[in-house]
Amino acid sequence: MATFRTPELDRPDPQDFDLRLRIDTLNDSDRADHLAAQAADRNEILHGLTQPQKTLPSKYFYDQRGSELFEEICDQPEYYPTRTEAWILDHYAGEMADVTGPCELVELGSGSSTKTRALLDAYRDRGGPLRYVPIDVSRTILIESARQLLRDYPTLQVRGTIATYERALLQLGVNPTATDLSARMLIFLGSTLGNFTPEESDRFFMQVRDFLNAGDYFLLGVDLHKNTAQLEAAYNDAQGITAHFNLNILDHLNHRFATNFKRDNFEHWAFYNEHDRQIEMHLRCLIDHEVQLGDHRFSFTQGETIRTEISRKFDLESLQTQLNQYDLEPIQVWQDPQGWFASILTRRRSD
Ligand code: AVI
Repeated sequence: MATFRTPELDRPDPQDFDLRLRIDTLNDSDRADHLAAQAADRNEILHGLTQPQKTLPSKYFYDQRGSELFEEICDQPEYYPTRTEAWILDHYAGEMADVTGPCELVELGSGSSTKTRALLDAYRDRGGPLRYVPIDVSRTILIESARQLLRDYPTLQVRGTIATYERALLQLGVNPTATDLSARMLIFLGSTLGNFTPEESDRFFMQVRDFLNAGDYFLLGVDLHKNTAQLEAAYNDAQGITAHFNLNILDHLNHRFATNFKRDNFEHWAFYNEHDRQIEMHLRCLIDHEVQLGDHRFSFTQGETIRTEISRKFDLESLQTQLNQYDLEPIQVWQDPQGWFASILTRRRSD
């Protein structure tokens, strides 16, 4: 495990940032591993582009530009999930903290940690040590948000971890400094679960179960099934930010894998598949053409689509049943008054 400190944070600081911040990186440090990972990524793309319904992995949305566009999406009037989940946390974080008692907060995909502040406020107000383990793939975002949190919460300790969800859940051991906080709460907000296929989501719950000790908590934020018009509007905002976000995946692939996609050859298409209860984002091809990836050429015909993302919308009852099957016992659910979004608190049962 490589550990580093940023030069800015190594400077003596009146607020003792050094003592309250630790950043770890969990990655394939060795070159052989790195090359193998790159080859696997390339194969995954090749596989997706050779299926009858062409697909691209949605993780490629999130280069620097894509992450900025996603932040912009969250501010669009049509995109209700971020605002609605923030409302739930602002109103009920106190109740959540009362249920769990003091615990270390571990957040998967922490990003700017904006919504998490409501939880940090609640745990701070109830006394006890305040410890936060944000996990994100972006080093820049992780360090920037940690600095802001340390400024705003003078008793907070942050152990940031740069890693994918999978790697973090597999490798992130018990915080050695957390002797005074016996319980942990793993947080997974934003309905990112919806971007996993059912199989990926099963695998994810298994990893969560293995990561948590009996008695630890898992707080999951999910977007719920609702009327098609509202869902489709959220993924087709009037300003066209979601369309940019969708098309940006092509620029990212060109940069990263030297493909020669042309944005102008595609348009954004998003709709609610009511049968599978999922928003599907596609890129629809506007003209017949070919795209190259190394020695491989892919033909695209006019009207054909590449599916770039699914965003599943959940039914509370069946999701709670599923969580229960993975020893994650639902304790309490909080919702907004319209019933659009839910925060589900579960506790890891003993085996
Ligand atoms: C990150 N994820 C939960 C978003 C969603 O709503 O599925 C990604 C997104 N795609 C288009 N708009 C937002």
